[in-house]
Formats: sequence, structure tokens, C-alpha cells
Amino acid sequence: MLIDLRIWLNHFEYHSQHPRRVPPGLSDILTSNERKLIASSIATFQLGEHSDGRTLLGAVRRLAHARATPELERITELFIREEQRHVTLLAEFMRDHAIPLKRHHWTEFLFRVLRGCASFEFTLNVLITAELIGNVYYRALESVTGCQRLRILCRTLVADELAHIGFFSELLRGFRAEVPTGARAFLHPVQKALAGPIHKSFFASAAVVVWMTHRAVLRRSGYTAIGFVRTCLAQYAFHLEQVPTGQPLIT
Ligand SMILES: [Fe+2]
Ligand SMILES: [Fe+2]
Repeated sequence: MLIDLRIWLNHFEYHSQHPRRVPPGLSDILTSNERKLIASSIATFQLGEHSDGRTLLGAVRRLAHARATPELERITELFIREEQRHVTLLAEFMRDHAIPLKRHHWTEFLFRVLRGCASFEFTLNVLITAELIGNVYYRALESVTGCQRLRILCRTLVADELAHIGFFSELLRGFRAEVPTGARAFLHPVQKALAGPIHKSFFASAAVVVWMTHRAVLRRSGYTAIGFVRTCLAQYAFHLEQVPTGQPLIT
């Protein structure tokens, strides 16, 4: 079995009952310089965490039905709830530090449009892109502040996101491995490229956009543009370029 849905279901069920929390009583001092540095950036990421998940859930329902894997639907519901918790955690921190919420940002709009179109595999490609780059970003955000609450909040998000990355990258690798080597020649060229160079180029472009949009925070954490994109690409390689086994996705 390439992906064991029961293990992932147990993971998501457990964390829905025992969500990772930021413990109360932590030192919560954000200096005015730190606030100035992170306000717009954290607000953009908080907006990016928003998703009602309807498109994803609809696609997953069809897949779960076609493959008789109800676990997949439940896992996705729990994943969406976890992301909604991130929205709340970030919003509470922002409220307590008078950082205004954002209602619109063009990068969030773009990701939302992309997530909503084309196939489930395409949606997964977009989703994993946001998860991987977001993870690098939250680590950087943690490193630019002395605010204990924000540092622990970043670590909490990273811990959840790592599981999301683990699950969705396993699912995506499973999709890619499902196509037998001989059949790859007959794939639609767009579909073929999506599994490789197009997705990687899209991913690298998204990392460049995140660098441009959040460069003040990323620079302060020690990244150059090239260093940031390289770090993101290293994450991509680690999670998505493992050798496919050729085993069926779900057994
Ligand atoms: Fe998240
Ligand atoms: Fe996530």
C-alpha cells in the first residue's frame, strides 16, 4: 500500500480531538519595530489560510466515491477544519496586537482561482505548493521575533503543516506513480508536464512571488532571494521527488 489512509485518518482524528494550542501565559510582547516588520506579511498569510474547502471537498468526494475510500473524505474535512483553526489562531494574535486583518490580496486571489480549476491532481499541486512554501515562511517568521507567543504560534502552525505536507505529498506521489511507465507516453502532454517540469516551474515561480511579497520578513530572517527559493526547492525535492514505487495509490 503506497498510502495508508487509516493511519492518516487516525492522525487527523486525534488532532481534531487534541488540537495543538498555544499555551496561555506566554510572554506576548511584540516590539513596535517587529510589529511594523510583520504586520502586512502575517495578515497576507492569515488571509491565505482561509478556505471553505468546498472545491477541494467536492473533488475529494468524487474520488472517494469512485475508489470506495470514505476515509479520504473525512481526512479532507478534518484537514479543512485544522486550516480554519490556523485562521483563528493568527487572527487572535493579530487582534491582540492591533494588526488589521486583510480582506483581499492578489496572491490569495490567484491561489484561490488556481485551486478551484482543473482536475483534483492539479488542485493538489497548488495546495502542496502553498503548504511547502508556507512552512518555510513560518519558520522564518519565528526567527524574526522575540515574542514568545508568536514563536510558539509559528511552531504550532509548522507542526500541523508538516503533517499536511506529509499527507498531500504522499497522495500526489501516489497519483503520479499510478501511471505505468509505458503508459506515460500516451498521457496528455499537459498532464505529463504537470507531474514534473510544469509543477516545479510553477512552484519556483510561487516561491519568487512569496519572496517579493514578504521580502522584509524573509531578509530579516537571513534569506537572500536565491537562498529562499533554494530552500523551498529543497523542500519540494524532499517531499515530491522521491522515487515512485509504482504501487497502486490505494489498496
Ligand atoms: Fe495552515
Ligand atoms: Fe496546511
